[in-house]
Formats: sequence, structure tokens, C-alpha cells
Amino acid sequence: MATSTSSLTQRPAWRALGAHYQKIKDVHLRQLFADDPKRGERLVVEDVGLYFDYSKNRVNEETIRLLVALAEECGLRARIEAMFGGEKINVTEKRAVLHVALRAPREQSILVDGENVVPKVHEVLDRMADFANRVRSGGWKGHTGKRIRNVINIGIGGSDLGPVMAYEALRHYSQRDLTFRFVSNVDGTDFAEATHDLKAEETLFIVSSKTFTTQETMTNALTARQWALKQLGNEKAVAKHFAAVSTNGQEVAKFGIDMANMFGFWDWVGGRYSMDSAIGLSTMLAIGPDNFRAMLAGFHAMDEHFRAAPFNKNLPALLGLLGVWYNNFFGSQTVAVLPYDQYLKRFPAYLQQLTMESNGKSVTLEGAHVDYQTGAIFWGEPGTNGQHSFYQLIHQGTKLIPCDFIGFCKTLNPLGEHHDLLMSSLLAQSEALAFGKTAAEVKAEGTPDWLVPHRVFEGNRPSNTILIERLTPEVLGKLVALYEHAVFTQGVIWNVDSFDQWGVELGKVLARRITPELQPASESPLSHDSSTNTLIRRYRKLKGNTK
Ligand code: F6P
Repeated sequence: MATSTSSLTQRPAWRALGAHYQKIKDVHLRQLFADDPKRGERLVVEDVGLYFDYSKNRVNEETIRLLVALAEECGLRARIEAMFGGEKINVTEKRAVLHVALRAPREQSILVDGENVVPKVHEVLDRMADFANRVRSGGWKGHTGKRIRNVINIGIGGSDLGPVMAYEALRHYSQRDLTFRFVSNVDGTDFAEATHDLKAEETLFIVSSKTFTTQETMTNALTARQWALKQLGNEKAVAKHFAAVSTNGQEVAKFGIDMANMFGFWDWVGGRYSMDSAIGLSTMLAIGPDNFRAMLAGFHAMDEHFRAAPFNKNLPALLGLLGVWYNNFFGSQTVAVLPYDQYLKRFPAYLQQLTMESNGKSVTLEGAHVDYQTGAIFWGEPGTNGQHSFYQLIHQGTKLIPCDFIGFCKTLNPLGEHHDLLMSSLLAQSEALAFGKTAAEVKAEGTPDWLVPHRVFEGNRPSNTILIERLTPEVLGKLVALYEHAVFTQGVIWNVDSFDQWGVELGKVLARRITPELQPASESPLSHDSSTNTLIRRYRKLKGNTK
């Protein structure tokens, strides 16, 4: 394979960043704050209701100037316009990338191949709202005439992670007499546990799959069909207990789902960018159409901000560029996302697909091998739980892990002192990471000499803090769009296709070949490597051993 002509690493701004890194890499955040006491007031951006403090990063104004220059040299502005303009920027799949159209107001016009797609987006939203209202009000009756009490979304990847994350995030706004569950794994345990205490006559399945061919989802959907029909005893029940969300009407019809219960979307919506499409049907059922539309308005507000704001005041651009700074110059491998809100417990998992399936690439748009690092590993857990688990390594380990802290000023569940304790922890953690504790400070506390090195905190560990008034549907939309566009920004800098996912294909093909080989009676000769062959034989033997 051709190697990249290194156009990125040859860019003037990239080279200038390399030289600048040599100057700033050993400067401590203590020093940066001492030199500029107002740094914490200046290195912030407040827009669209989000307060973004990036002052605890190992940057100065020159760093930001150079990162912005890099974005400009890489043509970020033109690429944003290309995305919003419906150009086929997903080059390997020859598709437009228009999740921004999913949240465009009715009156906006966005053209794909000359067709304005906004009216059809709203037509689907209106149908979803009608369906959601009927289910939520009890107007929609199951096969035996009972109202729906349980909704189970069956999907995987973007057809699961967005819905489950949004449901958990917005649970406070959900209709509490409806139960929501999410089945994704082909492991039968997922389905069994999700349904073991439910009655089919009160359960609605939403089969969510862009392609409607994904093995895990179709296996779970067929199992759901059998489970429901076993209890309800009549094929006609499918129409009352199954809805589908897909781009593939033919396969939905083949499955036997009433087309009136199908909600469509389009090939220009990537799976990991689809939680605000019809894939959000379970979200709308939970929080209602008005809250869902508020979430879309939040997405749209961030879209407009991303499109219009200068890069040095642009929340997604800055978040993405800071990520490039650590990834490519400091050599950081990972980013920790640390929401101090229990409702955001699935947000890091959601971001894993968004960021890693998008930018986990090693060839450029032109197909040349990159000679620089691309997508970081994203991970995280809500605070304060993570503090009692992995924060030790972030504070005192040998790795530099940039962190995103996300917190809210007002809690949705005021309970005694809880919220102040939660938020004081967030603030304490970012402060401790940045400034640490010197040996002199540790000694001054009377620590014996032998213990001092163990109790020193080097500090100089960078973080962003995103502070928001309250978690609402609108805010969730803004937060997700913030990361979507940060991913886009990074993809433009690294010159990769952030919208394909060829890397998931090989495993799928090999699994299809292995499935029949796992049968104990299988006679088929095994022609894998010696490790895979031996593991298959062992599995066959033990699986067949009923003793
Ligand atoms: O993991 C690969 C992938 O194609 C994801 O991009 C997608 O979100 C997921 O599978 C599910 O695909 P579908 O919605 O077509 O079932």
C-alpha cells in the first residue's frame, strides 16, 4: 500500500506545532496559571448554553493560534460547508453525510442530489409523534386489547447505543408507567433477561436496524417474534407488537412487520449518527414528542454554532483540536470522558462508537497509509464512581490521559447535600490533576521522608470542564452534537473518512464461516490456523458433552 505523502505532517502549522510543543511540553500548569492569573476566565468559551473551560490544558494562546491555523490549512471551513451542503463526503461509500438534516427546522432546505430532504425528515417525525402519542396514551392496543406497558428496542451499535444512552440520560423526563429495555447482544442472555418478567400482550418491540440484515438484530428479532407468538398464538399479533426502524423497507416487509409501523431514514444517516432519526423512536416513546423535538433543537443549535463560530471560539472545533494536540504531539493514547451525572452513565459507551468507529482509521481519503496517529481510545465512567476505581492511574500513573469533565449546576434530583458533594468532587479532581501536590507540600504536612514520593502528585494532567445549567433534552442534543462535530474536526485534520466502518466487516465474514463449524456433529474439515482449529474442536467437544 502506498504511504501517505505526509501532506499533514508537512503542513506549516503542523511543523510549527511540533516546534511549539518542544517549548511548552515541560511547562507546568502551575506556571501557566501563575503567569496569567486570569487564565481561568480567559481560556473559556460560553455559547449555546454550554460553558467550556479549557484553561487546564497544556496550551497557551500560541498553541490555540497554531491549532486554528492547522484547521484552516486542512480546509475545515470548506469541509463543514461540504457536509452541510449534502456533498458525498463519505467517499468510500459515495454517500452524503447529513445527520444535520435530521434536526433542521421545517423551513430549512438541504439538498441531496437536488432533492430537499427536510420535508421527508419532518414527515417521519410527524408519523413517529402520532405513533408515540398513541402508545403513551394507551390508545394503541395490543393483540388482546391491553395497552402497551413495555417497550423493547432491538438493535446494535448505533441502533442501540444512541437509544439506550438517550433513554438513560433523559429518564427523568420519561413516562414512568412505561418500561424500556434494550436488547443488543446476540448472546441469548440479553433477550432472556430483558423479557423474563414481561407479558407479550403488553410488550412492543421496536426492531431498529439501518440495514435490517445485521445478524445480531435479526436473530433477536426472530426470537422476539417466536416469544410473542408463543404467548399470543396468532400471526396477526405481529402488527400490534412490532414496529421497525430502517432504511430497508423490503426486508422489513419480508419480516412481516406492518409497513404502517415502519419508520424510515436514509443512507445519508450513519448508524452512529442516527439517534436523532427514527432510530430515536424509543426515545420519543419515553420522553414524548415535545421533548424529542427539544432535543433536536439542541442538536441544531450546536450545528449552527459549529458552522458559524470562528474556530478559536468554536466549541466542537476546539474540543477536536485539543484532542489532536494530545494525540499527535504529547502521544496520548486515550481520552477519559467523566460525566458527573448518573443519568449520563452510558454517555462514554455511546461516545466510544461515535469516536472510535469514526476515526479508527489508518488510511487517508486517498487510500494512502497515514504516518501519524489517528483516533484516540475513548473510555470513562460517571463520577464519582470512577474516582474509586481508575482515577489513581490518571493522577499518579505514567500515562498522560486528557479528561473531559461534564457537570451540571442544578440537579434533577435535589436530595440533601448530594449535588454539592458531587460537584465539589468534579472541581477537586480537575484541580488536583492540574496542580497536583509537590514534595515540599507533602513534607510540610509532616509526612515521613520515605513516604513522600508516594504521596506526591505531579499534576500537569490536562482536562476540559464542560459546565451546564441543567440536563435537559435540549442540552443532551447539544452535548451529542458537540462530540459529533469534534469527531468531524479531527477526521478533517487526519484526512480520514470518518463515516465508513470497513473495519467491522472481516470479523462478520469469518463468523459466518465458523458458525456451521461449531456443530458437534460437523464433519467439515477445519482449515483455519492451528489456534482457531484447536479452539473450535474444543468448543465442539465440550458443547456436546452434556455430563
Ligand atoms: O458495527 C457496524 C455497524 O454497521 C454500525 O456502524 C451500525 O451502527 C451497526 O453495525 C448496526 O447496523 P444496523 O443498524 O444496520 O443494524
